[in-house]
Amino acid sequence: MRFGVIGFGNIARKFVQSITYTSSGSICAIASHSAAADDLYLKEHPQVRLYRDYEELLCDPQVEAVYIALPHLDHREWIIKAMERGIPVLCEKPMVLETGEMEEILETAARHPVYCLEAMKTKFNAGWQQLKGDLKKLGQIFQIEANFCYDSYRNYEPSSYIYDKRQGGALNDVGSYPIAFVVSLLDENAVSVTGEIHKKDGIEQYFLAELMFESGVKGVVEGAIDRDKERTAIITGELGRIEVPMFNRIQQYRIIFNDGTVTDLSFPIAGDDMTMEIQAFIDDVEKGRTQSKIHSLKDTGTIVEICRRIRENAEIYEDSCH
Ligand SMILES: NC(=O)c1ccc[n+]([C@@H]2O[C@H](COP(=O)([O-])OP(=O)(O)OC[C@H]3O[C@@H](n4cnc5c(N)ncnc54)[C@H](OP(=O)(O)O)[C@@H]3O)[C@@H](O)[C@H]2O)c1
Repeated sequence: MRFGVIGFGNIARKFVQSITYTSSGSICAIASHSAAADDLYLKEHPQVRLYRDYEELLCDPQVEAVYIALPHLDHREWIIKAMERGIPVLCEKPMVLETGEMEEILETAARHPVYCLEAMKTKFNAGWQQLKGDLKKLGQIFQIEANFCYDSYRNYEPSSYIYDKRQGGALNDVGSYPIAFVVSLLDENAVSVTGEIHKKDGIEQYFLAELMFESGVKGVVEGAIDRDKERTAIITGELGRIEVPMFNRIQQYRIIFNDGTVTDLSFPIAGDDMTMEIQAFIDDVEKGRTQSKIHSLKDTGTIVEICRRIRENAEIYEDSCH
């Protein structure tokens, strides 16, 4: 399957490597306003066409699918344009920022039933399905917590979209990982959402939220762009707990039972952490599916809605350290 890439920044440069591990994915075109004419990747891959206009890439008859790797606020426009042309879309997370944008995507999907997937890589790695199955080993589940905190200030330029008031901040940048982890493991509605958001200069630097689910399970999600913390998820139940290091790209986890028994499981990743989602995309599109069974548009909508409820209900503090 020949992919066209829209936006050739940090993650797109990883994507063009990840796809090389798939069975039949390849890159045929890249659309970028800023890639240098003597860009090393393009020099090494002379068969890949470079467009300076994103629309031109969508008109390229060789392009069978697009990967959208633009700042969050630009996702909606290019998803819709691609779907209207009947081109399957893999779009980086967060697919959209607002519930209104999500409705537009769903309306487009209803008019143009084209495959469209948010790149929520966590759910495509082999450990994820096994983890879902292993939850029952804990008996009744009490709590699922997941955090994704990193100090963006070390690596990002002050002009980055991450610090743009319209689209930046922690909840937009990293919120979808812990939220998807908790809600997708439980597959049920959150009856209440509370929390706190810490801002600096109007940008959300840190959030911590509690989601109470119908079954009584508590979800705790945390994220930051201004501080580091060991990235982990912990699931606590009646019979013990499961600890998942680097939960957004599950490669291993440990089940610790209350009687002291410990079971370690590992799931070597084929290729790298993005390969399995690209492979699933290719397999689904080749089978003529219009939705992913693993991460549907409804699942994406659930994440967007939880973000909205966190903002609606959180205590807001203008006190973050950066
Ligand atoms: N799945 C993951 O592991 C992962 C990791 C990192 C990021 N992401 C997501 O991927 C998306 C892109 O992130 P990134 O880190 O790759 O971003 P990036 O390198 O900062 O930017 C990606 C591209 O967006 C365009 N762009 C960036 N800033 C712009 C600006 N101020 N004005 C106009 N165009 C701008 C440029 O396109 P041109 O090439 O056309 O110039 C750039 O190459 C985000 O939604 C992010 O959340 C996902």
